[in-house]
Amino acid sequence: MSQSYETLLVERRDRVAIITINRPDKRNALNIKTREEGAAALDELAQDDSVRVVVITGAGDKAFIAGADISEFAGRTAVIQRSVMLGRSLFTAIDSFPKPIIAMINGYCLGGGNELAMACDLRIASETASFGQPEINLGIIPGGGGTQRLTRLIGEGKAMELILTGDLIDARTAQEYGLVNMVVPATDLQAETMELANRIAEKSPIALRMAKEAVKLASRSNLDEGLRREIDLFAICFSSEDKDEGVDAFLKKRKAEFKGR
Ligand code: COA
Repeated sequence: MSQSYETLLVERRDRVAIITINRPDKRNALNIKTREEGAAALDELAQDDSVRVVVITGAGDKAFIAGADISEFAGRTAVIQRSVMLGRSLFTAIDSFPKPIIAMINGYCLGGGNELAMACDLRIASETASFGQPEINLGIIPGGGGTQRLTRLIGEGKAMELILTGDLIDARTAQEYGLVNMVVPATDLQAETMELANRIAEKSPIALRMAKEAVKLASRSNLDEGLRREIDLFAICFSSEDKDEGVDAFLKKRKAEFKGR
């Protein structure tokens, strides 16, 4: 049974949990409450062994997330804003979440919304989605990882262009840049996302966790360290019951049933 939240809906469908940011009138802008509740929901889902994959989306058909709630910026001092941002953020909670997280992007994916999507492991967008880091238009810069994650994902030239201009790009361009994994018609977004989530949810949860950690290391360590750690993570998988099950299932030509042990 899920806890209830003011700004989110959390739903479980088999092994997949869906978190919906539920402030459609404000284009799902991230206020402090949403950030706190998002991190709390992830803590809850991390502990729940029945959940293998998480999907994050926005309510309504206009926006995934239109960024930080700009109304909270007015009158806030830089010192307070900095201390808010240095605390454990929703983006960090997503980044360090031990299970795969998919962003299902159903409309405007801007500023902190794009930063949240980039903290996820995979991004699926509707053809009607648009993307950008428009902070420059407010006289600020991205502060939730935008300058770092966008640059790692799409390279310095394109990241610089998006961040300096604040211009939006459409979903096809975002795919071409490597910002999103897949673009689908708006009517297929849910079905395609659930198909992908369910397919991943059938894998070994241990192998998923190790794979996620290993891939993330590639942009955060040097090659020698990364290769060394990859072997450690591989060895953890190798000692799991899931590895015995996967190998046995392959040899007996049957479907593996991974238990996360
Ligand atoms: N923070 C706070 N409120 C926001 C918001 C944000 N980031 N984005 C949208 N809203 C609010 C609007 O103020 C408006 O509220 P109101 O009805 O009380 O006036 C409501 O959501 C609907 O927004 P509106 O601009 O009328 O919708 P739209 O569909 O025409 O345009 C956007 C959508 C996303 C293009 C536009 O709202 C926008 O540019 N938002 C700001 C994006 C941004 O700069 N994000 C980075 C923040 S650091």
